[in-house]
Amino acid sequence: MTNPLAVVRTPDALRAAVRAWQAQGKRVALVPTMGALHAGHLALVTKGLTLADVAVASIFVNPKQFGPNEDLERYPRDEAGDALKLAGVGCSLLYAPDVATMYPPGFASFVRVAGVPDLLCGRVRPGHFDGVATVVAKLLCAAQADVAVFGEKDWQQLAIIRRMAADLDIGTAIHGCSIVRDHDGLALSSRNAYLSADERQRALALPQALIATRAAIIGGMPVAAALAAGERTIKSAGFVRLDYLELVDGETLHSVARPAPGARLMGAGVIGTTRLIDNIAI
Ligand code: PAF
Repeated sequence: MTNPLAVVRTPDALRAAVRAWQAQGKRVALVPTMGALHAGHLALVTKGLTLADVAVASIFVNPKQFGPNEDLERYPRDEAGDALKLAGVGCSLLYAPDVATMYPPGFASFVRVAGVPDLLCGRVRPGHFDGVATVVAKLLCAAQADVAVFGEKDWQQLAIIRRMAADLDIGTAIHGCSIVRDHDGLALSSRNAYLSADERQRALALPQALIATRAAIIGGMPVAAALAAGERTIKSAGFVRLDYLELVDGETLHSVARPAPGARLMGAGVIGTTRLIDNIAI
């Protein structure tokens, strides 16, 4: 089957395409991704099309956001399959630069947001959010789209991108999109592809612990006791590492001792060799 989706591979070609739409009075939504697209990513495109007239997606597996012992090499890649999925939900253009285009010899600039990147995932993935902020700044500057849409599963990433876009006067409005979950509650993630059937089953302890912890907190249990019970649930399901289960302020991501408007329950851990993250509103 012929791929109906146009693909550009340089920032100049991306900007020219976006400007041409904007010159016709159309608003453009950018959906940055690392590919291996699932229904969660496609929901970002669909949301983009509620906010703008045209959706553009990018696929770039960004080496600068992977640590030395992380899964950069094995990260799933399927540009042709992804392009078909994007076309199927009405995306008009794919930006798929290579590493040399994004980071040519002599590349020397980094974007670092202070504060939030050091918390939660940042404690176990040092430098990860500098890589995210750098690549997202590049994508936003290259596209100069009207809006950009990011998934709320990566709540901390979304908070950092909002901060960066505001601080750097990037004129693109940043929007979050609700988490898309599988039928049994597991948040969709490209990394779910790494899970064996057994791990996939046991991974459900993460969303289940979030829901049970939220119910306990809302029911009046002290936050520390509710979190401890949630941690036990996750560990007893066979997670080899629990990075955190925390109740945080949804904007600053600092731990809070009591549920307050905007609070978020955040969890992350490793099952088998796969690191999963999830969060829910309180
Ligand atoms: O969420 C992702 O897929 C990535 O972190 C992003 C925002 C595309 C930056 O590489």
